[in-house]
Amino acid sequence: MIIVTGGAGFIGSNFVLDWLATCEEPVVNLDRLTYAGNLSNLRSLEGDSRHHFVQGDICDAGLVADLLSTWKPRAIVHFAAESHVDRSIHGPADFIRTNINGTFTLLEAARAYWNGLGETERAGFRFLHVSTDEVYGTLGPDDAPFSETTAYAPNSPYSATKAASDHLVRSYHHTYGLPTLTTNCSNNYGPYHFPEKLIPLVIANARAGKPLPIYGDGQQVRDWLYVRDHCAAIRQVLAGGRLGETYNIGGWNEKANLEVVTRLCDILDELDPKEQGSYRDQITFVADRPGHDRRYAIDARKIERELGWKPVETFDSGIRKTVEWYLANQDWVRNVQSGDYLKWIDKNYAVRDSAAEAAQ
Ligand code: NAD
Ligand code: TYD
Repeated sequence: MIIVTGGAGFIGSNFVLDWLATCEEPVVNLDRLTYAGNLSNLRSLEGDSRHHFVQGDICDAGLVADLLSTWKPRAIVHFAAESHVDRSIHGPADFIRTNINGTFTLLEAARAYWNGLGETERAGFRFLHVSTDEVYGTLGPDDAPFSETTAYAPNSPYSATKAASDHLVRSYHHTYGLPTLTTNCSNNYGPYHFPEKLIPLVIANARAGKPLPIYGDGQQVRDWLYVRDHCAAIRQVLAGGRLGETYNIGGWNEKANLEVVTRLCDILDELDPKEQGSYRDQITFVADRPGHDRRYAIDARKIERELGWKPVETFDSGIRKTVEWYLANQDWVRNVQSGDYLKWIDKNYAVRDSAAEAAQ
């Protein structure tokens, strides 16, 4: 069996669902259930004995050691993190705690466990660390996409803590021989994406008749990947990745934010039209994110060459599926828009609205 951390979050829950849809190997899912964790993502697994959920913190060394000695996994797939750049700007402390100290705690527990295994289990064990392209910093319009050898230059507290965790993972391989794998992926989108991030926020706000906030000039570029393609890539790296290596994962889908938002409006106009006008009328330019990275782009040739992975979805097919999913799952959206969510929206956007008005 395998242990997954953060398996109640956006990518982690998609990974667990896909894993159990494609193989019989059980999953122990360790998740603290922060604001971003949601057990309803995993509702279809209720009663499925292959899924064992544990509510707990990756910073709890005793709990992690107990889980390893009880379940004797052949791999740890580590998703758990604080993941939202804007939250890291308002409050970096949780990011330091979970992303750095939490990864360190897992690595220490994994090292002790791995050292105690017999020869065959030791050879088969894997620690797969899920990371981001944001560790590489920002690109100019004509720069080559990030490759696995691009120097790290993180610009936000989020990306700095992910970079620190990547370095720790690297060091545990080089120093202790721990069989690690690291993946650095571009922006994901798809089902169960928490509506604090651009794509689900825009879908939710559009349907609620609220402004669709574009930071700055909306010309920042992200390389979008449908979440299930990311999950498939992680499975392939786990199965065949070379120990100690990192693999960049991306969708070859560079899009400016404004283009993404207008595309969402056009699909919504088609699938769920307003009584009058277009959803585009709700687009509102607001104050920019401090230190906002201008462009991310991934060179995903290494994973294709070595492991044969390529994304299945184009941006057009993936974004349409995503809008359809949100339209069919409005209860899910309503349930995650709790009191804490509303407080966050107020904290992040009230300041931007007043800054944007002052600039006019
Ligand atoms: P998410 O915020 O949706 O989910 C994070 C999950 O981790 C939540 O379920 C949360 O409850 C859990 N968690 C947080 N702190 C914890 C702790 N201390 N102990 C145990 N569980 C804890 O994040 P996501 O978007 O699913 O991202 C998952 C991973 O993928 C992260 O490591 C992130 O850096 C990486 N990543 C994300 C993207 C993206 O576009 N979302 C892109 C590349 C890489
Ligand atoms: P986000 O989904 O937060 O992902 P990340 O910061 O990890 O790339 O943001 C994607 C892009 O959209 C990013 O350039 C910031 C921008 N953005 C907006 O313009 N408005 C918003 O309300 C949000 C949340 C993001």
